[in-house]
Amino acid sequence: MPSAFDLSFLASKQRPAPAWHLETIAAEMAEPDKARMLRVIGRMGAQQVPAHGAIDWDAELAAFGAIEFPSYYLQPFHSIPGGYLNEAAALGDRAALEAIYEDAHPEKSLGLRRAIAALIPVDARRVLDLGAGTADGGAAIARRLPDAAVTAIDASPFMVIVGRRQNGDVPNLRIEQGFAERSGVADASVDAVHITLLFHECPNTAKRAILAECRRVLRPGGTLVLSDTPNDDLYTYRGFYEPYKEEWLRFDPDAFLLEAGFGEIEAHEVAAPLWSRVARSAA
Ligand SMILES: C[S@@+](CC[C@H](N)C(=O)[O-])C[C@H]1O[C@@H](n2cnc3c(N)ncnc32)[C@H](O)[C@@H]1O
Repeated sequence: MPSAFDLSFLASKQRPAPAWHLETIAAEMAEPDKARMLRVIGRMGAQQVPAHGAIDWDAELAAFGAIEFPSYYLQPFHSIPGGYLNEAAALGDRAALEAIYEDAHPEKSLGLRRAIAALIPVDARRVLDLGAGTADGGAAIARRLPDAAVTAIDASPFMVIVGRRQNGDVPNLRIEQGFAERSGVADASVDAVHITLLFHECPNTAKRAILAECRRVLRPGGTLVLSDTPNDDLYTYRGFYEPYKEEWLRFDPDAFLLEAGFGEIEAHEVAAPLWSRVARSAA
């Protein structure tokens, strides 16, 4: 059941509380710890959060009006109250990714994003980045393909507000609030879709709906570049609430892509531990 979540209420400080389950957080903390995540948490603590000037959150959020979120989205992802609907989640987004991928690439997450962007066909002119966060992935694509129009869509208006500041210098990138399952983009109107680190946050029903949306918006023969974290990686996230980690253990990207009507699937490991699939939308 979708839940209504009217952001204009924020102006009066009556912030509707997304689901917040203390017992699930306690269960997470009881998981056996893993060295990699502990190193990441240590590095996160040392990161600087960008200033971005003074953001008038209430005014900027009110401009988005009423947004109806799917109920799976209203959870305390990563044990942050409000999950992605949180100022700190958005302000700390790049810093968190830099800490997580410090060992993966000499230029950390931003280098990783350039490597993933290189998987988008060079002749793509219309590109969608779904579940874009603060749009560093979309920005890497837009910089690599200056003749392409890149649209980055994220469900969280907090991410959009920070993303527009963080990547506001990229002229061929637009960052919009929206949902990966219903992007609002016309049928067969894009050459490539980029999705990074979105699927592990979604239930299987949403993954299927998002792949159906990719098929709808991609032109025949268009390209999907799907990247995410290994199946067992969420178990290393001690104390980080990841509601779909059980489903993720069994997630098979190739089976999902084939079922959704994608073919010519290529596997890439641009920077371990992240994996990528490049797939074509069948005609
Ligand atoms: C782990 S972050 C990854 C962000 C970005 N793609 C990256 O590589 O850093 C997941 C993002 O997906 C967004 N998200 C989750 N479900 C979504 C949906 N159904 N539609 C659009 N965005 C969604 C969240 O708001 C969050 O910003």
